[in-house]
Amino acid sequence: MTESAEPIPPRRLLMGPGPVDADPRVLRAMAMPLLGQFDPAFTAAMTETMALYRGVFQTANRWTFLVDGTARAGIEAVLVSVLEPGDRMLVPIFGRFGHLLCEIGRRVGATVDAIETEWGGVFLPEAIEDAIRRVRPKLLACVHGDTSTTMAQPLAEIGAICRRHDVLLYVDATATLGGVDLPVDAWSIDACTAGLQKCLSGPPGSAPLTLNDRLADRIARRRHIEQGLRDPDAPAGDGPVIASNYFDLAMLMEYWSDKRLNHHTEATTMLYAARECARIALAEGLDRRFARHRRTSEALVAGLAAMGLRVFGDAAHKMANVTGVHIPAGVDGEAVRHDLLTQFGIEIGTSFGPLHGKIWRIGTMGYTSTRECVAMCLVALDAVLRRRGYGAPPNAGLDAALAVYAGA
Ligand SMILES: Cc1ncc(COP(=O)(O)O)c(C=O)c1O
Repeated sequence: MTESAEPIPPRRLLMGPGPVDADPRVLRAMAMPLLGQFDPAFTAAMTETMALYRGVFQTANRWTFLVDGTARAGIEAVLVSVLEPGDRMLVPIFGRFGHLLCEIGRRVGATVDAIETEWGGVFLPEAIEDAIRRVRPKLLACVHGDTSTTMAQPLAEIGAICRRHDVLLYVDATATLGGVDLPVDAWSIDACTAGLQKCLSGPPGSAPLTLNDRLADRIARRRHIEQGLRDPDAPAGDGPVIASNYFDLAMLMEYWSDKRLNHHTEATTMLYAARECARIALAEGLDRRFARHRRTSEALVAGLAAMGLRVFGDAAHKMANVTGVHIPAGVDGEAVRHDLLTQFGIEIGTSFGPLHGKIWRIGTMGYTSTRECVAMCLVALDAVLRRRGYGAPPNAGLDAALAVYAGA
């Protein structure tokens, strides 16, 4: 048998819509020894992780824990556990991930209604309230920042609207948690899920989630512990069985509680990663972290504008961690991305759906939301665009970006 080469990935700077570079402290945490899932040292790590994520989600919710899987594992867990067949769900769609919420909702047997706006815009709260009045859903499911369009839906008023109409509010904060303000309790969000690979600068593979009691109580009605683990004396819920075993939040809550129900084997290494992501975010301080993301975005936008490039979408609602850039006429967008990757080791994102071939997406989140990353990206883009026939005033992008930092 021939010995295979040691698999060393090429060196990259990941500045697409995610994943972005992991913080080296997160990678270090992932090299820590495994523990048995009921080892007191490991259950203490689970409890500590719950407390840390209460900080990150800005919530007092007891039920704040991790679902193993990428961000959509968190989405599926909430939707399959909350929505009973035939329940109505309303989704405001302003990009690809609104469609994903609808798709998952339909798969779990809900009746799904959506309102749609053109990619590049968001909804006024009144439009969402009108739709709630019309549809009378059980659940409003909304994306916070949709990386496909780089837009962030304002959510501050949506929770109060939902309470007024007795609707549950679920928010997909995959792309914003830890980089953009999202005070779950202050905004009356009933359930919120995320991923690690964006503003938290971890690897994809763990979905932090938080649920308030209003929502957790409804899920508890559907508690049907799997046979083989069930305590014959414990009463089962009177609601319908949750259609997924893996994503059954009623059982997952028992696993993350002091009962330590023997459900799945917790993904030890991903828990270490998630815990470290939260520790790093809280050690920096959320307000400082949000300000850092805003400043980096400002610098990137100033640099792009100085190069004569146009930023995509409604500027007032642009995410602070992903920026869409119109591909200039006559420039081959994929060739530019190829050159950035192969000549500079920098990855930026392409687009899909109605934006396919029209914009690039540049991520500045978590570990890559820095002056250095913006500077490297602008310098490389400038050089590549020049070779591809688009001549911006030399160094204009870098100078404008650095001026933003100098003015800080
Ligand atoms: C807003 C949003 N929701 C959900 C997802 C899906 O996440 P994952 O690919 O980790 O399952 C993404 C990924 O880009 C996203 O940006």
